[in-house]
Amino acid sequence: MDSEADDDLILSAYTADSSELFPKILDLHVEDGARIADVTHGTGIFWQNIDLESRDIDLVTADITPKTDDLSMISDCRALPLKDDSLDCMVLDPPYAEGFYRRNKDHMAGHGSHGKFRDTYSGVREYEGSGKYHGAVLHTYFEGGKEAKRVLRDNGTLIIKIMDEVSSNTQELAHIQVTNYYERELDFYTKDLFIQVRKEKPTVVGMNRQVHARKNHSYFLVYKTP
Ligand SMILES: C[S@@+](CC[C@H](N)C(=O)[O-])C[C@H]1O[C@@H](n2cnc3c(N)ncnc32)[C@H](O)[C@@H]1O
Repeated sequence: MDSEADDDLILSAYTADSSELFPKILDLHVEDGARIADVTHGTGIFWQNIDLESRDIDLVTADITPKTDDLSMISDCRALPLKDDSLDCMVLDPPYAEGFYRRNKDHMAGHGSHGKFRDTYSGVREYEGSGKYHGAVLHTYFEGGKEAKRVLRDNGTLIIKIMDEVSSNTQELAHIQVTNYYERELDFYTKDLFIQVRKEKPTVVGMNRQVHARKNHSYFLVYKTP
């Protein structure tokens, strides 16, 4: 392979921001002309380096608490106002940490100096749904996956972003838990997995003895509908 082809080769792991990695995933797995819904659009970081026009992408943007003025719709990824079999691709990136799923806003993670992070990533809403702590994280991915199965056409593509977490001193490998559910309960085929390593060094607050490796990576997973 020549060096130009080497440069174009898409790899399974990058130290990168989502705005750098997501376009590579889209290039590899989603055809030009696709109708895509990003149902947890947030501030739209994923789309920062994507030229929708040149790829003829019809993008529907949605979030439960809008963070941009030009959102297509305000909606819950667990009950989307989209027709059955109406999309080629769905993108799902709900909050991945159980601390963002609290029935009382005062108990939610990310107070004070972490406020901006919380505003961007959680939606800052009281959680309504089944499951507690890490179970609430899984519930959102599971229900979002069910909606993906409904709204995606045959051979459609679901792209999720997810991070594992230690919750109540227990290691929760969320990317495996969600993949098991999608494969076993929803018949998705897991087509690809990307590891995104954070550029910044994680900060350490008040730790006495380290028990688990501090996570500095997350995943993008690509699933196909049956
Ligand atoms: C991790 S952020 C997404 C970041 C986004 N990918 C970006 O590029 O900015 C999680 C987003 O999910 C939204 N969210 C949380 N629960 C949701 C739900 N049930 N349905 C739809 N959006 C939800 C939050 O408001 C937040 O904007």
